[in-house]
Amino acid sequence: MMPKTVLVTGGAGYIGSHACVELLNAGYELSVLDNFSNSEPEMLTRVKQITNRSFKTFNADLRDEKALNDLFAASRIDAVIHFAALKAVGESVLHPLKYYETNVTGTINLLKAMQKADCCKIVFSSSATVYGLNNPSPYLEDYPLNAVNPYGSTKVMAERILLDLAASDPMWSIVLLRYFNPIGAHPSGLIGEKPSGIPNNIMPYITAVASGRLPELKIFGGDYQTADGTGVRDYIHVVDIAKGHLAALEYAFLHTGAEAFNLGTGKGTSVLELVHAFEKASGRSIPYKITSRRQGDLAAYYADTNKANLHLGWQAQHSLINMCKDAWRFEQLGHWL
Ligand code: NAD
Ligand code: UFG
Repeated sequence: MMPKTVLVTGGAGYIGSHACVELLNAGYELSVLDNFSNSEPEMLTRVKQITNRSFKTFNADLRDEKALNDLFAASRIDAVIHFAALKAVGESVLHPLKYYETNVTGTINLLKAMQKADCCKIVFSSSATVYGLNNPSPYLEDYPLNAVNPYGSTKVMAERILLDLAASDPMWSIVLLRYFNPIGAHPSGLIGEKPSGIPNNIMPYITAVASGRLPELKIFGGDYQTADGTGVRDYIHVVDIAKGHLAALEYAFLHTGAEAFNLGTGKGTSVLELVHAFEKASGRSIPYKITSRRQGDLAAYYADTNKANLHLGWQAQHSLINMCKDAWRFEQLGHWL
């Protein structure tokens, strides 16, 4: 059988690059579309180095309809994994139109180009942020959605558009993956999370403190109703997230319709527990200060993972210590190369 070709949008980014490794290792042919607005082409060179495989790269923007049509006209694409998006919550509050344009209009552009090319299988990067404020943990896929910032709204809207599309035409296969908190890096240390500027997210902040690039971690809130007072999240290894995409893709090749799945571990970890696990994994101490809460943060949430276990045959494998060890290896090696 001919290997299937998958278009990966945002394939040079943090999660996309790890998914590319898993797809190539599983024998898929790839095309990657990225405008490198939040990533470096070097990450794709490293994907090739890790897998010893090659693929086509399109330096193109989701907002450019012609570029998308040209891409689908130039090569046969069997399915799309759609990572490309803007993802900084704070920035989305300041620049909502930029977020709606890339995350919503960009997704519509992609879907229109797919429709024209008769390509009707897509795995979409959604987020646990779609569950909003008032749902008890563990989060279930059929909870009501309720975004609380423009970034979250773009994900709720894109999910809605994809559901309406599946309802309009039974040819579509659509998988919505709601990630919890991806951290860690590829065990090679070559690819990982490399945000530009001061990191917003906790793990790149911790690794920057561990290597001395930043003086100390500020823990946002020590007075939550949690076991140690700090915020609780469902941290999941990025390689497990990447493998979840492989399972979702296989599901999309076998099923039509639209289905949402949580990708998490089902376990909650507090900020202090994460800091202590990182200290153990790296042998470095992480100076920290407990400061006031960050606006918009929830106290605690984690995933119910039964639906993904049952229907995708997928389960997260990596421990918190592994996530920390791999994040630290990337900080020491890949971050600087
Ligand atoms: P990332 O920023 O590392 O990767 C996104 C990639 O998309 C980047 O390579 C960027 O250059 C590219 N891109 C952005 N705008 C583009 C455009 N207009 N045209 C073409 N390419 C464009 O982010 P990530 O952490 O890898 O996230 C991937 C997806 O997962 C995103 O959709 C994000 O919203 C979602 N997500 C991420 C997290 C997380 O914690 N990292 C959690 C939940 C959901
Ligand atoms: N935190 C700190 N100090 C920091 C950064 C974070 O104490 O410097 C705390 C936060 O208060 C929170 C935890 O660490 O308790 C995790 O924070 P992150 O910023 O790493 O992640 P969030 O849970 O806020 O959000 C992430 C992504 C969102 C996505 C969401 C999905 O950033 O885009 O997961 O669950 F929507």
